[in-house]
Amino acid sequence: MTQKLWGGRFKKPFDEDAKKLSYSLEVDCRLAPYDILVNMAHVQALYQSGYLSEAECGALVGALNEVGDALAVPNHGLFAGDEDIHSCIERLVTGKLGDLGKKMHTGKSRNDQVITDVRLYLKDQIEEILSLLSDLRRTLWQLAGQHVDTIFPGFTHFQTAQPVVLAHHLLVYVAQFGRDEARFRETMIRTDVCPLGSGALAGNNYGLDRIFVAEELGFSAVTTNSMDAVSDRDFMMEFLSNASICMTHLSRFCEELVLWSSPLIGFVTIGDEFTTGSSLMPQKKNPDIAELIRGKSGRVLGNMVGLTHLIKALPLTYNRDLQEDKEMLFDSVDTLSVSLLCFEKMLHTLQFNPQPIADALSKGYLLATDFADYLVQKGVPFRDSHDITGAVVAFAAEHGRQLEDLSLEELRGFSGVIDSDVVDIFEISSAVDRKNLLGGTARDQVRAQLAQLQEENGW
Ligand code: ARG
Repeated sequence: MTQKLWGGRFKKPFDEDAKKLSYSLEVDCRLAPYDILVNMAHVQALYQSGYLSEAECGALVGALNEVGDALAVPNHGLFAGDEDIHSCIERLVTGKLGDLGKKMHTGKSRNDQVITDVRLYLKDQIEEILSLLSDLRRTLWQLAGQHVDTIFPGFTHFQTAQPVVLAHHLLVYVAQFGRDEARFRETMIRTDVCPLGSGALAGNNYGLDRIFVAEELGFSAVTTNSMDAVSDRDFMMEFLSNASICMTHLSRFCEELVLWSSPLIGFVTIGDEFTTGSSLMPQKKNPDIAELIRGKSGRVLGNMVGLTHLIKALPLTYNRDLQEDKEMLFDSVDTLSVSLLCFEKMLHTLQFNPQPIADALSKGYLLATDFADYLVQKGVPFRDSHDITGAVVAFAAEHGRQLEDLSLEELRGFSGVIDSDVVDIFEISSAVDRKNLLGGTARDQVRAQLAQLQEENGW
């Protein structure tokens, strides 16, 4: 039977079902290593302020180290119905040191403690996510480098629109994940602030050196308003928003992989390592991992909405509602991390299939805009050239032919300016290379983009 941290004024025991509703150890146990560090920094500040002797401080730090090591062992069996990780660690330290352990919580509250733990945890997780994003961007960049000469159908409305190079398409995601990286870096600045010392809401009576504590814990800054410190969850909302945008990017790419790998399209084959079979239909090779990442973007968005909703009507300062923040945060951290990891690994297994890509390029009149631009070069105003080209496309479609199958005579029937040089228009790689302006899909531009990314990222 564990001792509650707050039993003094209560005569009756806490309801067993209310415990189920409110005890959070199962969720917040992952904060254990951070809670140990926070306690260590705090007892050192208590020693500096003269409340603990050097020997007492040393004994507490030693016990905290032992408890930290013990809790790091899988299946340690040390949890005993504690309310949360803070109660658990205090119980274990007190179990080792007796009355001295009971001094550990002097001048701190779980309100400043829990949010200090969470900030430390999230700093580590953001570092991890930044490293996963950097690996992913590099892999995408490498893949793009292999496909500068792969002409690929560009889509709008999921209708083939104009030819691009596959590298250009892939570099879209390098840009998206680059913006994600920048957002996480920004959030890091606001996460990397130490609230410890803010007490329950008003500060504490021990004159603790907050700058020392922050430095001990590796924070870059300290919070400047104790009430804000214990109630602020902005950095978490930001993180969840970033995570949700990042998952949206993964989800869009996964959607493309699902479509492209369908036998109906066949542009790409995803490796066996990231596809699954059907228990019934032996021929199936399903893109389950891409589908699951797409699906999981929903729960990460849900966590963002959930947290914002949790916070939006809370009066200052700490309210127990805030305990619910961690489940959403942890779930999004776990989901985003595993999704980034699997997605990056899956990219290595992709195989692009030239024939279906060529087939898609050969139908759908992807060069109609270039044909209209050809007429513009011959002096036809664009609106007229658009009309003429529309009529040519309709004629070709009626006869089940492509533009390049029409004879010069047939084409000249639509406009006298058309000459034998029109054949140049139907050279698909030159259609790509004509988009030779900043940001265009011309291969020179794409090579320049690849080189710039290499330079910026040191790849
Ligand atoms: N488990 C709590 C949480 O995560 C710790 C803070 C408890 N504070 C309190 N005043 N009951 O928010």
